[in-house]
Amino acid sequence: MKKVDNPQVKRASAVWLGVAAIAALGFQASAQAQEHSAEQTYTGGIGRIINDNCVVCHRDGGVGPMQFETYEQVRPWAPLISMRVANREMPPYAYDQHIGIQDLQGDWRLEQEEIDAIVGWANAGAPLGDADVTVAAADLPDPNQWTFAKEFGQPDLIIPSSPYDIPSTGNDLWSKEFVSTGLTEDRCIKAVQVKPRGDAAAVVHHANSDVYIEGEDGQLENYGQLTEYAMGKWGEIPGDGVCRMMPANSHVLWDIHMFPGGVGATAKGEMIEDNVVEIGVWFHEPGYEQSAYNQDLRLYGMREGYQNGHLIIPPNGTVMTQGFHSFDHPVRIDSFQPHGHLRMRAASLEIYYPETGRTEQISQISNWSATWHHSHLYDRDAAPLLPAGAVLVIKQWYDNTADNPNNPDPEQWVYGGSRTGDEMSHAWIAVTHLDDEGYEKLLADRMQASN
Ligand code: HEC
Repeated sequence: MKKVDNPQVKRASAVWLGVAAIAALGFQASAQAQEHSAEQTYTGGIGRIINDNCVVCHRDGGVGPMQFETYEQVRPWAPLISMRVANREMPPYAYDQHIGIQDLQGDWRLEQEEIDAIVGWANAGAPLGDADVTVAAADLPDPNQWTFAKEFGQPDLIIPSSPYDIPSTGNDLWSKEFVSTGLTEDRCIKAVQVKPRGDAAAVVHHANSDVYIEGEDGQLENYGQLTEYAMGKWGEIPGDGVCRMMPANSHVLWDIHMFPGGVGATAKGEMIEDNVVEIGVWFHEPGYEQSAYNQDLRLYGMREGYQNGHLIIPPNGTVMTQGFHSFDHPVRIDSFQPHGHLRMRAASLEIYYPETGRTEQISQISNWSATWHHSHLYDRDAAPLLPAGAVLVIKQWYDNTADNPNNPDPEQWVYGGSRTGDEMSHAWIAVTHLDDEGYEKLLADRMQASN
């Protein structure tokens, strides 16, 4: 892989759109004159990259604003595609190259070679190539089928959200509600998938789900995150020997972000009715927890950067938060999902080993956007193993200046809070809690695999 040129390049603006449109006209004229390799044509390779990585959202009924299913649809957008891809803004998965663990499950990032091919193709005037070659259509899962049904059959439990009507044109909408799981005994999750029902796929941008249990006073208390969904994600398997618990009498808190996507573009003025998102859960057999290590997905706050417990960012100012967490037993870190809003620019996860004084960088996201929420799932063989006492160091950076392209107003004081204009500073982290024996075994397995 080659080096990324500049992952920090700013977002496209309306001005850019205009420039891109003019540039598109210019490219047409130069296209014929330019020599290009066969791979740098739509039918020679670019079409496959787009079908494999973009069409899941950029299609009729997808969340993307334009459709990329055919050459005719793609071609006018080639300059804008080139820019968004070169800046690594599309596909929408901000996770830094060359820093920390790069082996992730469900990684949407393009290879640098693919980015270079798209840029070269756009610069050459976005040629079709051999017109007799057909590009294989995108291989998209059936939105009405559960992805894991082939492996595990139908889900043991389906938890639907309440139906929600969305106008086909208009602003973003959020829906938050509690739904009971109806479980009467504790069960370990084997697999979980979130799936918009039918047409809802066109309007559901992403959906987070948390598990709540009833506390002693009857109030619901957060037990941990269940899973997250964004179009293009097909589910999660916690893995063998691991128990991600869904407790008896638990409730799911849905947090669904909707906006009129593909349907809105084609059905102006209409109402997209009865949108429902479902979580399908497959369970291990009852009692599985006895032979498995407990995995939880919890929120880790970063109090250190707060002032008297409050996050305060002055107008035109910057702030950094830092938080620490250590465990009194060995653990494996299975995922990392930082959280912040419009002023957050970057987040990182490090491990500090007090016995050696060494700090290891695990993950960095330096081009954060609150539009997309990704839980970065480490490959099982790459997930960091921490001895007891090692410290997780979570850092987040906030930029309330005009340099931050997501900043709606640099003149505002920004405080910690849950509204979009407030800020947050925490991360969701999935942790498998090991004992010495389990830790030593995993270490030995890795040593063996690397020899
Ligand atoms: C998971 C869904 C998803 C995937 C995958 C995806 N996009 Fe997008 N794309 C979106 C959404 C939603 C928007 C509109 C919001 C935004 O710009 O972030 C968008 C916007 C765009 C835009 C318009 C930007 C602008 O300035 O108006 C371009 C160009 C684009 N995507 C290209 C691509 C390309 C090329 C790929 C594949 C390499 C891709 N996208 C993959 C969802 C997706």
